[in-house]
Amino acid sequence: MRTHTSTRSRWLPTVTLGIGGALVMLLAAFTPGAPAQDKKPNKFVGASKCKSCHSSDETGNQHAAWMKMDHAKAYEALASEEAKKAGAARGVTDPQNDPACLKCHVTGHGAPPENLAKGFDIKLGVQCESCHGPGELHIKKRMAAAAKAEKGAPVVLEKDELAPVTPQTCLGCHNSESPTFKPFCFFKRREETKHLNPKAQRTEEEAKRLELVCGEGDKCPTEKCAKGEGGIPKSK
Ligand code: HEC
Ligand code: HEC
Ligand code: HEC
Ligand code: HEC
Repeated sequence: MRTHTSTRSRWLPTVTLGIGGALVMLLAAFTPGAPAQDKKPNKFVGASKCKSCHSSDETGNQHAAWMKMDHAKAYEALASEEAKKAGAARGVTDPQNDPACLKCHVTGHGAPPENLAKGFDIKLGVQCESCHGPGELHIKKRMAAAAKAEKGAPVVLEKDELAPVTPQTCLGCHNSESPTFKPFCFFKRREETKHLNPKAQRTEEEAKRLELVCGEGDKCPTEKCAKGEGGIPKSK
């Protein structure tokens, strides 16, 4: 569905999934001379599918890192006493079954059913694809590349098919609509959930971007910081 490919575009604030994605598809469909759109959506497949390629310690074991995040428990959290109280205050009797809560506590909520792969499990909470976008095409491309490599053909290693993770991605959920909202500082929170691949090849510019911390010191989070602006290089 979304095919941002350049490194630069990954940093620009972009519309997040849902309405934004639908709009992009709509625009593409009505642009004269645009290449015929693949009618099949890029599906949400779920974190267990990512695990098969992203659980090696050598390349940063992103699956294990995610399992340690509160994101992996975000659906469970809707069953707690605290959740029931927060729900009751808003006329929600069953948070685990209410769109008012699910929209930020699980992946793919509100997506049309055909955009969810068979067996997709919302109980896994806020999964990889809440931040990276639907992963089906990424997996297909990476599998095709691996098959080619086995036959000795060169492997194309450009960034592929995933949505860029921007501060906007986080702010789509980390905002005052959350009944338990805590002020959000993009740089700080990104640090807490970091799962980089130590072996990844990056341009100097990209490496710098990934190490930025909040420029406002103790005053964090400020409005700027929340939006992922005004970051400064981490002092060593
Ligand atoms: C068939 C193997 C395979 C599967 C399954 C897979 N990936 Fe990847 N992925 C790769 C490879 C190979 C790379 C490039 C090397 C690296 O960064 O580890 C990559 C890179 C990435 C990157 C770095 C940015 C980019 O585009 O290169 C992200 C983010 C990512 N994968 C997310 C996911 C998510 C989310 C899932 C599950 C929906 C997933 N991957 C499933 C093989 C896979
Ligand atoms: C809360 C949001 C979030 C979740 C959930 C999440 N990621 Fe990420 N991921 C990020 C951010 C932020 C980066 C940093 C890259 C960037 O800013 O472009 C990243 C980077 C990556 C990279 C690239 C690493 C590198 O060194 O370039 C891979 C691979 C990846 N994630 C895989 C996964 C997989 C697999 C899962 C689920 C098991 C997952 N991520 C869950 C936000 C997330
Ligand atoms: C789909 C909604 C969603 C997105 C997108 C999202 N988060 Fe979250 N995040 C949550 C929820 C819900 C929790 C609380 C989970 C719990 O405690 O069970 C949470 C918890 C956290 C926490 C744990 C600390 C705390 O206050 O509970 C951090 C850190 C965090 N998120 C960082 C990020 C970052 C950084 C991004 C963007 C790269 C991001 N999140 C994107 C929904 C989201
Ligand atoms: C706009 C997105 C959003 C909505 C809607 C939302 N939440 Fe959350 N929720 C979050 C985020 C983000 C966090 C992490 C704390 C924060 O807000 O910074 C969180 C944290 C929580 C926590 C604390 C979890 C923990 O481990 O301590 C509970 C409980 C909770 N939410 C319940 C609910 C209930 C009940 C509803 C529905 C009435 C709801 N939330 C609706 C985004 C949301």
